[in-house]
Amino acid sequence: MDTATAPRQTDPEALQAFLDRFAADQAATMHAATVVVGDRLGLYRALAEGGPQAADDVAATTGCHPRLVREWLNAQVASGYVEHDEGRYWLTPEQTACLADPSSTTFVAGGAMVVSSVHHAIERALTAFTGDGGIGWDEHHPFLFAGTRRFFEPAYRANLVPHWVPALDGIKERLREGGRVADVGCGYGAPLILLAQAFPEATFVGYDAHVGSVEAARRAARDAGVSDRVHFEVAGCEEFGGRDFDLICTFNALHEWGDPVRAAEHIRSALRPDGVWMFTEPQTDETLGESIRARTFFSVSSFVCTPSALAQGAADALGAQAGEARLGALVEQAGFGRFRRATETPAFLVLEARP
Ligand SMILES: C[S@@+](CC[C@H](N)C(=O)[O-])C[C@H]1O[C@@H](n2cnc3c(N)ncnc32)[C@H](O)[C@@H]1O
Repeated sequence: MDTATAPRQTDPEALQAFLDRFAADQAATMHAATVVVGDRLGLYRALAEGGPQAADDVAATTGCHPRLVREWLNAQVASGYVEHDEGRYWLTPEQTACLADPSSTTFVAGGAMVVSSVHHAIERALTAFTGDGGIGWDEHHPFLFAGTRRFFEPAYRANLVPHWVPALDGIKERLREGGRVADVGCGYGAPLILLAQAFPEATFVGYDAHVGSVEAARRAARDAGVSDRVHFEVAGCEEFGGRDFDLICTFNALHEWGDPVRAAEHIRSALRPDGVWMFTEPQTDETLGESIRARTFFSVSSFVCTPSALAQGAADALGAQAGEARLGALVEQAGFGRFRRATETPAFLVLEARP
């Protein structure tokens, strides 16, 4: 036994440090619920639009209960999410960009819906952990579906058209002239809608196994005025029907699938010989250790991603922290000839596979 694992007495300083850390985590976890409420009820927006104001003014603007709004505001101040002085509350420009403005590329409030959905899944996770490990994507609370879109969409808006597509040799030029694009595991369809707005000559189809997400994606395409060129179909990743695509995308979905190698084979067969499969997966750390990113993704993967793959019959699910080497091996196994990291962000690997 080495010194790291040898039994020892509790160190009071280390104990207090851990208790402090737990208290901070507990506060953040509790506070996440107030972020969902503030986002859903327009409380952050009212603060952003109204400038410094009393709690009763926020309540009046939003039609919410004044006493609860005051409590909520004080919770925000305690978390550093809202400013306060002499009974008036307001948001800084930075707080506005992260909490009140969904059109901002740093809008993060949607992430709290995903946090909340994981907590809704605890009862089901208990049976999964002691049973066959599976939880279907469709078994989750609706916050997961809407929250996933709201959580990821700002990053897609910041990166997909300006950075990710140009990183794929020749694809931007092809989409300018036309071209056929698919998104497999499309969820609420946000990336395809962004692509359709940027490339008006191209046509787009999104596939997802989850009926509710496909319906939401169709509504979003109608609202964005692109439903003549963007279609969404309920279809699994191993059986969608389209062919001859110039570009197939998969955004943070591969690790949810039961047999990603078979799905990748199907994707390869649906590409033109000179087509490209671009897929994003979360960044990973070199080694297992303390990391905010790994903490987030391993946690959500324990309740959502890995159980989804297991529910679809995965022998050894990828999980949301598979890493580039394992993903490259998967792509090779599926018969792709070329694989590379096209680009990346601090959060995502953007990977490119060609037949
Ligand atoms: C994490 S979400 C990502 C959604 C979307 N790509 C995005 O980035 O917003 C994973 C998606 O994969 C879909 N999915 C899971 N298993 C699937 C399968 N076997 N075939 C097709 N879609 C699947 C889920 O329904 C869900 O919409």
